[in-house]
Amino acid sequence: MKKIMGLLLTTLLVMSLFVGCGSKEKDAEPTGGNDSNQSSSEKDQGNKGDNSADKPKVGVTIYKFDDNFMTYTRNAMTSAAEGNAELVMNDSQNNQSVQNDQVDVMINKGVKALVINLVDPGAAPTIADKAKAADIPLIFVNKEYPEGTDKIDYDKVWYVGTQSKESGDIQGKLVAEAWKAHPEWDRNGDGVMQYVMLMGEPGHPDAEARTKYSVEYIKDEGIRVEELEKQTGMWDATKGKELMTTWLGKEGDKIEMVLCNNDGMALGVVEALKADGYFSDGKYMPVVGVDAIPEALDLIQQDIMLGTVLNDPLNQGRVSIEMAINSAAGKDVLDGLDFSLDETKAVRIPYQPITKDNLDLAKKAYGME
Ligand code: BGC
Ligand code: CA
Repeated sequence: MKKIMGLLLTTLLVMSLFVGCGSKEKDAEPTGGNDSNQSSSEKDQGNKGDNSADKPKVGVTIYKFDDNFMTYTRNAMTSAAEGNAELVMNDSQNNQSVQNDQVDVMINKGVKALVINLVDPGAAPTIADKAKAADIPLIFVNKEYPEGTDKIDYDKVWYVGTQSKESGDIQGKLVAEAWKAHPEWDRNGDGVMQYVMLMGEPGHPDAEARTKYSVEYIKDEGIRVEELEKQTGMWDATKGKELMTTWLGKEGDKIEMVLCNNDGMALGVVEALKADGYFSDGKYMPVVGVDAIPEALDLIQQDIMLGTVLNDPLNQGRVSIEMAINSAAGKDVLDGLDFSLDETKAVRIPYQPITKDNLDLAKKAYGME
């Protein structure tokens, strides 16, 4: 049995390596402003001399392409690079060793800066060592080194993301206010909010902080809570649906509130609730998320989701690429940008509460209008 398992594992490993190589080849194609005609005409018009110096090659990895929020961030990066940089975009397929290899390949190919969305936040120093050895500036985005970017032994490393705790606080505030306005949501009338919690991936600073601070905020508002269920749905809609379906079977009507670390999982939760008869004939369940992705905004518009927290992908994508371009050119990393660095060498893009009253704000941040 052991032998068979071993064989199976080896086969799987070899297969995944093949998949990894295949998409690496494909993904390594530059995706931003790589039109040769455009480059040469810009060269003719420009008086700065060397065109390649004007459009540096920037190496990007995304922890996995199959992530709702990161897809918006990735598209924002591509737009920001247009005409300004040549992006080499990699799908790290949720595998840190795949990502490490991608970084080696990009360094060998001569990228002038790296923008890295880590798979494992703890791998930041490993990637930084590679960048340092090649003297290439490095911008981490979305997944923060838990000990702080300033603790990494390299002068040319920065972080672009958010202040994770803020999203928990905002989500907690949104829930507390709505709970107080709706006494009927306390279905069993015991004066306690029975909730379930869907967490993002363990060890991700956003997931840890949202889980902790949302509930802390609610309690600080004087609301008593009881956690019925808490598990990771890995940021993913399908897993969110599975969890919620299981919990509905187990807890049934006891659940009074659903807290999700992101909208992706909330979409799955809503599907599970709909399949259980919710959101028709007056049967309701408050569900909150984070990100404000367009699908969630739609559900808020329809009075299905209670609200969400805007996690601004356009700014996070744009700022990370502009910092890469600046640092590659030897300029101040924040040159021309309206943001500042905190004491941990991080640019923190603010979160915003989103309900039916201010959907437009979120639509703008997602380039919908
Ligand atoms: C987002 C999640 C996303 C994760 C990826 C978080 O900030 O809220 O939706 O899956 O980043 O790292
Ligand atoms: Ca109750």
